[in-house]
Order: sequence, then structure tokens, then C-alpha cells
Amino acid sequence: MKYVVAVIPGDGIGPDVVQATLEVLKALGNTFSLSLDFKYVEAGDAAKIRYGVALPDESYQTISSSNACLKGPVGESAKQVIIVLRQRLNLYANIRPAVTLPNVPSLYNDVDLVVVRENTEGLYKGIEDKTSEYAFSVRVVTREASIRIAKIAYEMAMKRRRKVTIVHKANVLSSCELFSKCCLDVAKDYSEVETDQMYVDNASYQLVKNPQRFDVILTTNMFGDILSDEAAGVVGSLGVSPSMNLGDQFGLFEPVHGSAPDIPKGTANPLATMMSARLMLEWLAEKYRDGAMKEASGILWDAIVQTLRKKIFTPDLGGSSTTKHVANAVIEEIAKAV
Ligand code: NAI
Ligand code: MG
Repeated sequence: MKYVVAVIPGDGIGPDVVQATLEVLKALGNTFSLSLDFKYVEAGDAAKIRYGVALPDESYQTISSSNACLKGPVGESAKQVIIVLRQRLNLYANIRPAVTLPNVPSLYNDVDLVVVRENTEGLYKGIEDKTSEYAFSVRVVTREASIRIAKIAYEMAMKRRRKVTIVHKANVLSSCELFSKCCLDVAKDYSEVETDQMYVDNASYQLVKNPQRFDVILTTNMFGDILSDEAAGVVGSLGVSPSMNLGDQFGLFEPVHGSAPDIPKGTANPLATMMSARLMLEWLAEKYRDGAMKEASGILWDAIVQTLRKKIFTPDLGGSSTTKHVANAVIEEIAKAV
């Protein structure tokens, strides 16, 4: 089968980390005869300057008619690109693993958790207004969206350590009360899974003090946004933190991080994007029952881990390698695997 993958290079470090990832995917594709057809799509700050809109219609059409999307970070126009794509494509589950990796300097050496973030509503629903004197953003929580994200979290927990922590602020926010209630309703169908609940302020504290206690963190949109950056910090860097935005039919894969305007050109860590691409291969493999794709995703993961074992690190991990060095090292490891 031929897979069409829409590719958004994005802004800032986006084009560099995406280019590095495509080179790796092409090496992998040649080795495993994968038929991946990459279609470049413009979206983000640069697109906004060029076309007046951050997500041109043509880009949206290409993305929505592809099998999957690989996205680099965009800049200040994130709201008009990724928030819109999540809502329009109904990518209701944002899944963000945070795992300790070999040799990567981190606070602990045994963290393995995943943030499951509701991705279509909450404070990012877009119901807001502002004047010079007041502004508001409405936090929307519905039963339907809460139930469907909770099901994803519990299904995921069944394949992991069977523990879900529901994170909210129900002592203060009515919207969180409903979220918590819906999650507990879903929990009733998963008696093998241990459930606990935590207020988000305590959760952010526990994430630093005792992150090993978490398996699956189930939470609302903005809390998930914040906690996943924090989890990235706990395991070492946003540069090694991938994510997937999943709906029932479509998947968009992107690093957790943004366009990192503060770092020198050519020094960004491409591994978060490569790891996101690996999640994409796994997702395609499962969806289309494609054994070669599954094998390729395993080889890509091993190549990334081997590169880390050799301490080929960009500056965020304490090294001096460039984005290109890391890509070449991963490609070398893929070649060895044949
Ligand atoms: P950021 O994630 O770009 O950067 C946070 C920190 O992590 C910075 O110190 C940065 O240098 C570092 N970092 C991030 N990715 C890295 C990588 N691959 N290698 C090495 N270091 C890395 O967050 P920030 O600064 O808040 O946002 C910058 C821009 O990105 C903003 O315009 C924001 O709107 C946008 N953004 C876009 C997102 C998306 O497209 N999904 C997500 C988050 C932010
Ligand atoms: Mg974020």
C-alpha cells in the first residue's frame, strides 16, 4: 500500500527537524521498501505572511486527504494552525509519552508515563472575547468528549501498568467536576485498572517529586498542555518528547515542543520529531495491518536508542552535535540493522 503523508515543515527550528526526520524516513523507506509519499504543506507564521492566512485552504485539503500528517512546530500562529487542525479533523486524543532514555541526563532514571490530553475543548475551545478592559475564555467540558478521551486513557492503561490518574481541579471548577465524573463512569468498565484522582497543582508537584507513581495521566486540554512540557523536563528535554493527535480515522504526529526561537540555527534536537514519526509508522502499521511498517518502526526506535547510547547529543542534552549529525547517526544505525 502507498501511504500519503502530509508534511508541515513549520517555523523556526521546524524545517530543520522535519528535514532531518524525512531523511531518516527515506533511508528507512529504501531499506524496507516502504511506500511513503510525502506531500509538503505550508502552514504557520511563514504561510501567514505569504498568503494572509496561517492555514491556507489548499493546505487543509492536502492534509485531510492524506493518510497521516507529520507536523513540525509552528510559531505564534499555533492557535490558527494546530488548534484548528485538532478541532476540524476531530483529533480528540493527544497522547504524549515521557520516558527516561539511555544516557539522557534527567531527574530520575526510571520514568515511564503517558499524558492523555483531551484535545478539542476545555480552555482551547475558542469561545472568547476581549476589549481593552476585559477579556474572557470559556472553558467548555462536555460529557461526550470526556467519555471518549477517558476510554482512550483506560485502553492505553490496559496495555501498560494499569493505572490511571485523573487530573483536574474539581474543588474549584465545575467544568472539572463533570470531567472527573465522566472519567469515573468509564473507570467502572475497567476494574483491572487502578484509578486515582489528583488536583492539577498537586499533580505538577508530584510529577517532579515522584514521577514514577504515574502510568497514565488523564486530563483536560490546557492542563495536559502544561503537564506534558513539565514531563518532558523531568525526562530530560522537550527535544526527546513526541506526541500523536489521534481521531478515529486520522493521525497527526508532531513534537511536543514549539519553534524554539531562542536557539542557534542547526542545533535543534530532531529526535522528538523522529520519535513522533516512529509513532506515525506504528499507527499506520496497526491501522493498515502492515507488517513491514511495524518492523520499520521498531528499527527506527532501536536506531534512536543506539544514537543516544553513543551520546550523540545536541546541546539540549548537554552535547555539541548538530541536528544533521544526529540525523546521520540515526541513518547509520538503520543501515547497520539490515
Ligand atoms: P518551545 O517549545 O519552542 O521552547 C521551549 C524551550 O525548549 C526553549 O528553551 C527551546 O529552546 C527548547 N526546545 C524546544 N524544542 C527544542 C529542540 N527540538 N531542541 C532543543 N531545544 C528545544 O516553546 P516557546 O518558546 O514557548 O514557544 C516558541 C514558539 O513556538 C511560540 O511562537 C509558540 O506559539 C510556538 N509553539 C508551537 C507549538 C506547535 O506548533 N504545536 C507548540 C508549542 C509552542
Ligand atoms: Mg504545548
